Amino acid sequence: MAMSLLRTDDLSVSFGGVHALSHVDLEVVEGGVTGLIGPNGAGKTTFIDAVTGMVTSSGHVFLDGVNITALPPADRARRGLVRTFQTLELFEDLTVEDNLAAGAMHTPWWQFLKDALWPWGSRHTPHEVEDALELLGLTAERDRFPADLSHGRRRLVGVARALAAVPLVLLLDEPAAGLDSAESRALGERLRAIADTGVTVFLIDHDMSLVLDVCDTIHVLDFGEIIASGTPEEIRNNPAVVAAYLGRAAETS
Ligand SMILES: Nc1ncnc2c1ncn2[C@@H]1O[C@H](COP(=O)(O)OP(=O)(O)O)[C@@H](O)[C@H]1O
Ligand SMILES: [Mg+2]
Repeated sequence: MAMSLLRTDDLSVSFGGVHALSHVDLEVVEGGVTGLIGPNGAGKTTFIDAVTGMVTSSGHVFLDGVNITALPPADRARRGLVRTFQTLELFEDLTVEDNLAAGAMHTPWWQFLKDALWPWGSRHTPHEVEDALELLGLTAERDRFPADLSHGRRRLVGVARALAAVPLVLLLDEPAAGLDSAESRALGERLRAIADTGVTVFLIDHDMSLVLDVCDTIHVLDFGEIIASGTPEEIRNNPAVVAAYLGRAAETS
């Protein structure tokens, strides 16, 4: 049986009177790509905020069998819970490679010593940075600056930087935002490749097509509650899911 790598138990978040997340019991099994979809305002970002400890919540969070509920965000990250943000923040004055190196956390201590003693020596690139560049197809652009890249490529740098931190679970908050459908499909292929290396990917999006294409399992949030969980096929045909999307669409149009 597949192991549950990340699990929430009765996770809730309120902002004043708004129940952004209500009693969410969600399980992310090890390996593959798990999706979380829902209309705008459903609570998707709040879920990642709560799981990573960036917002006050009630309930419990378990990572790899360990109760991490009381841990601050940095400790959760160190244990392998690594996220991206919906609004992409890259370090504009750093090259693509150095953006990734800033995300890498496993550079051995002696490397700093070596670089200090032999600054003229060949520059060391941590293997996790090298691997992340390779997996996201960014090797040729490693020495370029973010401003020189298209929006789609910049998005990939954001994912690569999180990957360079060697996550157990990689939590991606709408990585496809602003991508056209071809870029979105290409991103989907990269996410599958990441999952194939053994990293468990957790993908948030409000756009169903990417998630239905890429994910093994999908959970659907609406008004802070999980209204459906299943395979892409099950989700596609779930009347509650269709109603949630149509309902919100009708409201906002
Ligand atoms: N910091 C905040 N203060 C007050 N309300 C918030 C805050 N963050 C989110 N919300 C509200 O919580 C709900 C869920 O938001 P969010 O998690 O951002 O949704 P999603 O990511 O699914 O679009 C929305 O009603 C939103 O307005
Ligand atoms: Mg969001």
